[in-house]
Amino acid sequence: MLRRVKAKWLLIILAPTLLLIAGSILALVFLPHPVPNTATAGQRAYLTHCAGCHGANGRGSWRSTIFFIRPGDLTDRAAMDRLSDEYLFGLIKHGGATIGLPGMPAFGYHLKDPEIRELVAHVRMLSAPK
Ligand code: HEC
Repeated sequence: MLRRVKAKWLLIILAPTLLLIAGSILALVFLPHPVPNTATAGQRAYLTHCAGCHGANGRGSWRSTIFFIRPGDLTDRAAMDRLSDEYLFGLIKHGGATIGLPGMPAFGYHLKDPEIRELVAHVRMLSAPK
């Protein structure tokens, strides 16, 4: 009898606790990056589409770390300076799959060309001298 009661209470307390924990983890992983009201168009697009992997500052997000994604360092000036605007535009539009960067997804289906140009400009700012 006592056993039964205990099991029931365990269930009543444990089930919602587990649900809360599971929900929080899912929210942490899937909720979009917060975008400040003052964000420029490029910054807004970057935080919405790129920051999940690359991190708000371009150095990679902890989500990437958890899932063993290695998005590189977009603040590495020497490396970024070697990439032309056309290359960045094509990379964002078509993704990296065809040029040996399989981790980098394509955004051509979601974003219009002017938005991609804003993104290129924002990515440039991440490695600009402060
Ligand atoms: C799903 C995770 C993910 C998202 C979202 C993502 N990237 Fe990437 N990106 C990567 C990975 C991983 C690499 C490294 C390529 C590789 O090793 O396959 C990369 C590489 C890059 C590079 C460097 C390419 C090079 O030649 O060194 C740039 C620039 C870049 N991403 C920009 C962006 C921009 C801008 C966005 C948003 C429109 C974006 N990424 C969204 C995962 C992502």
